[in-house]
Amino acid sequence: MKTLSVNGVRVATVDRGGGLPILLVHGFPLDHTMWDAQVEVLSGRFRVIAPDLRGFGQSGVAAGTVTMDQFADDLAALVDALGMHERVVLCGLSMGGYIAFAFCRKYAARLRGLVLCDTRATADTPEAAAGRWETAQRVLREGTAPLADTMLPKLLAPATLAKRPAIVAALRKMILASDPRGIAAALRGMAERPDSTPLLTEIACPTLVLAGQEDALSPVDEMQALARQIPSAQFVTISGAGHLPPLEQPAETTAAIEGFLRL
Ligand code: MLT
Repeated sequence: MKTLSVNGVRVATVDRGGGLPILLVHGFPLDHTMWDAQVEVLSGRFRVIAPDLRGFGQSGVAAGTVTMDQFADDLAALVDALGMHERVVLCGLSMGGYIAFAFCRKYAARLRGLVLCDTRATADTPEAAAGRWETAQRVLREGTAPLADTMLPKLLAPATLAKRPAIVAALRKMILASDPRGIAAALRGMAERPDSTPLLTEIACPTLVLAGQEDALSPVDEMQALARQIPSAQFVTISGAGHLPPLEQPAETTAAIEGFLRL
C-alpha cells in the first residue's frame, strides 16, 4: 500500500502493475480488499489503483458529511498525486458507482471507460435518506457490530451466506474494522446524493454494467434498465452472486472486467 496526502486527508492505496490505469472503487462500508482477487489478476496487464476511500480501511477519517462529489474529488486528486496523466477506467461498486457518477459529472474528460457494478442511478427517497441519518447516529452510538448484522444478509446471495463462511467472515471483519465516523459521514453523503438518471444518456465513454444475479440491493432488472439508458453500455450478469460479485464470484467478475478492458 502507498499512502498519499489527498485533499488534506491521508489516503492509502494499492498501486500495482502497468499499462492502462484502472481505478477500483469499493462499496459501503467496505475497503479496497473487496477487490483483492481482481487486483491480483488485472495487475498482470494493467495499472491497478485500489484506494481505501476517506473514512474507510487504512485511510484517514473526515467526520461530518462526505459527499459523493468529495469522494470523486479525492479520486481525481489521487490520480494526480500518483503522477498519472492518461485517462483512467473507473470501476465502482454500489457506493463506488454513486461516486463514479459524480466523477463523470465533474471529470468526464479524464475517463477512458466506466464499469458500474451493482449500483443505482436514482437518489434516495426521503424515507431512505432519513433512514441513513438514523443509521449514522446509531453507528456513532453503538459501533459497527449492529450494522454488520443488518447488512451482511443483504450484501450476499443466500448460498454465499449459507455455504461460504470464509467470505462471510472476511466481509464481517471488513465492516467491523470501519471507523464509525467514516461510516456516518458516508451515510450522510449518500443521503444527499443527487439523482444521476439524467446523466445516463450523456455518458459517452465505453461502459460495462455488471450485476450479481441475486443482488437484493440493486436488483438485476434495475441494473438492466440503467444499462439500457447508457448509449454504449454492455450488460453482464454474474450468476451465484448477490451485491458483491467481486468477492462472491471473483473469477467470473474479473473475466468480465478483463474482457471489457480490451477497449
Ligand atoms: C454499497 O454497497 O455501497 C451500499 O449498499 C450502497 C448503499 O447503501 O446505497
